[in-house]
Amino acid sequence: RTISALAGGGWNVEIADEIDSTNTALLTRAGNGCPGGLALFAEVQTAGRGRRGRRWQARVGESLTFSALWRFEGGIGRLSGLSLAVGVAIVRALAHFGLPVALKWPNDVLMDGRKLAGILIELAGDSLGPTAVVIGIGINLTPPAVVDQPVTGTRSIRPELGRNAIAGRLLAELGDVLDLFAREGFDALRDEWQRLFAWQGQAIAVHQPDGNIVHGIAIGVDATGALRVRTASGDIVVHAGDVSLRMA
Ligand code: BTN
Repeated sequence: RTISALAGGGWNVEIADEIDSTNTALLTRAGNGCPGGLALFAEVQTAGRGRRGRRWQARVGESLTFSALWRFEGGIGRLSGLSLAVGVAIVRALAHFGLPVALKWPNDVLMDGRKLAGILIELAGDSLGPTAVVIGIGINLTPPAVVDQPVTGTRSIRPELGRNAIAGRLLAELGDVLDLFAREGFDALRDEWQRLFAWQGQAIAVHQPDGNIVHGIAIGVDATGALRVRTASGDIVVHAGDVSLRMA
């Protein structure tokens, strides 16, 4: 066990040596009525999950891997933009240690244009009481060996920076951001998100789930976290899709 003695900052913190997926584990706990404010870290995930059904791989001891269970009043209508808000918390925490991080819509954290961290947010099944949300975060210290996209790790810039320091800062920032988000929604974090947006003002291609590709200039996000794109035929709002920088 190399993750130890985390600063709690109002969180209940648990650490597993090996687990299938911290997201899966907290979804089960939430379904059994577990209160919010629980953060579960894992040294090793045997079935770490990424977005869109992808696997999330990490080197042992070289990844900060955890999920946070949070309960929101007011139903899922209040949750739009949550994954972008979580991105702001991660950037705040990493920027504190001097890492030059930026955000990619909807919710990857980049460093030098390469993926440093991923976020997987899932709604838990219980419909009673406050909405239970599981926020999964994986941050590479050293990136995994086999990946399908450019990746990086914190050690490429700050080799000496340890996981406990990052984890403590991250829980504090995450708690602040989630409190603000619960009170005021994503709009309260929108300006900060846009300042951190890696591709603001750049030509992008949006690959939409229906197969369409929309070209335009990224001009920010709206109050719900949807991407605003200026196209030749006017401004559009993109709610889902995979965004890439457009090739010249
Ligand atoms: C992505 O970029 O596709 C999201 C990756 C999310 C990975 C984290 S690691 C902790 C938590 N448990 C999981 O199984 N996935 C998330």
